[in-house]
Amino acid sequence: MTTLERDSPRQTIRVDLGARSYPIFIQRNLLECLGKELRKLGRVGKVGIVTDRHLAGRYLKPVNRVLKAAGYTVLPIVFPPGERTKTLRSISTIMNMLVDARFERTSTLLALGGGVIGDLTGFAAAIYQRGIPFVQVPTSLVAQVDSSVGGKTGVDHPKGKNLIGAFNQPRAVLIDPATLTTLPAREWKAGLGEVIKYGVIADEAFFGYVESQIEPILKLEGAVVTHIVKRSCEIKAQVVSEDERESDRRRILNFGHTIGHALESLGGYRGLIHGEAVAIGMIYESDLARHLGLCDEGVVVRLRTLIQAIGLPTSLPQVTFNALWRAMQQDKKVSGGTVYCVLPERIGSVRIVPLEKDATRAWFDATRARPPRRGKNSTTTPRFR
Ligand SMILES: NC(=O)c1ccc[n+]([C@@H]2O[C@H](COP(=O)([O-])OP(=O)(O)OC[C@H]3O[C@@H](n4cnc5c(N)ncnc54)[C@H](O)[C@@H]3O)[C@@H](O)[C@H]2O)c1
Ligand SMILES: [Zn+2]
Repeated sequence: MTTLERDSPRQTIRVDLGARSYPIFIQRNLLECLGKELRKLGRVGKVGIVTDRHLAGRYLKPVNRVLKAAGYTVLPIVFPPGERTKTLRSISTIMNMLVDARFERTSTLLALGGGVIGDLTGFAAAIYQRGIPFVQVPTSLVAQVDSSVGGKTGVDHPKGKNLIGAFNQPRAVLIDPATLTTLPAREWKAGLGEVIKYGVIADEAFFGYVESQIEPILKLEGAVVTHIVKRSCEIKAQVVSEDERESDRRRILNFGHTIGHALESLGGYRGLIHGEAVAIGMIYESDLARHLGLCDEGVVVRLRTLIQAIGLPTSLPQVTFNALWRAMQQDKKVSGGTVYCVLPERIGSVRIVPLEKDATRAWFDATRARPPRRGKNSTTTPRFR
């Protein structure tokens, strides 16, 4: 048994959103008492467990059992794993199954999986009978530290990611860090990209903690992993509480994402996975900040060194400025044609800055000639095919 599979005391974080407030519980092996937890949340009757095949193979049986033991009628809804499940078609499948099983306004949906399942389930819960309660049980690191908190739900459109959706807050987020023991290493590292992001946008001490704990993190040491999940959730909860619908403050969560999203879309969502693209995005956006005189080179070097030590990719794939700029403009966060980018002033503090095309091109050309300073053992990034 690894230390990440040993029981731990419960940690509770509140997401403060008035009538839509909810708790995040973090506890190793929480999955074993899911039935009791749903009871405490006042849920009764039917529970639809939305999950994917990877998770179903490992967790559906035990989760089914504890829910049934707690008196629930359970409807498993299982999808193929991966982004291709985040479609209106899957929403339609869920609607049909809920209608056939006579789900009511008081029934509950439970999202057991990564961000794909969480986003899909939250949107299904928003629209079935104009809204039924849902509970997040995130199992990937990305979902535990990011997508399960904050109420952004939705699906992709063939023309773009996350184009269809709704803000819909869950009744609770139940995090069992022990589920991370089965997460593939690549997904684990991608999630660490988002963890590093929280340090840069809000908490230098946390960034320092991650720097000092790389080995225990990569070995999935229980207490360290549980701490990074908790601190990330606290920061996300705080930012979301200040700005539920992303009018301003919440945009700081997009650090690394202006370039990151552009790289994902240029690669046709087949090359880099999200957290990897964000890792590269963070390095290059901080280098852009250095070029614009917003931060010193130390920020770029520190960020790059940490990302490299984690084993995430660090260099920009082969791409032209025009293609990159065009892709950056397609981001949903662009307003009135202006690209706004979250840039660091130092580790722990960022600013939202409108980008000028000419200045960005000048930085890009200089960067191509001289990539941001790299440490030893640098990893290479796949080229786009
Ligand atoms: N709503 C938000 O605020 C928000 C924020 C960030 C990302 N997202 C969305 O989240 C999605 C990415 O999330 P993701 O990285 O979790 O992707 P994912 O849901 O596809 O999960 C990644 C892979 O890991 C597997 N997996 C998950 N947990 C596992 C476990 N414990 N053991 C074994 N395998 C496991 C999944 O089956 C899948 O193959 C994207 O669609 C993105 O748009 C949403
Ligand atoms: Zn992200």
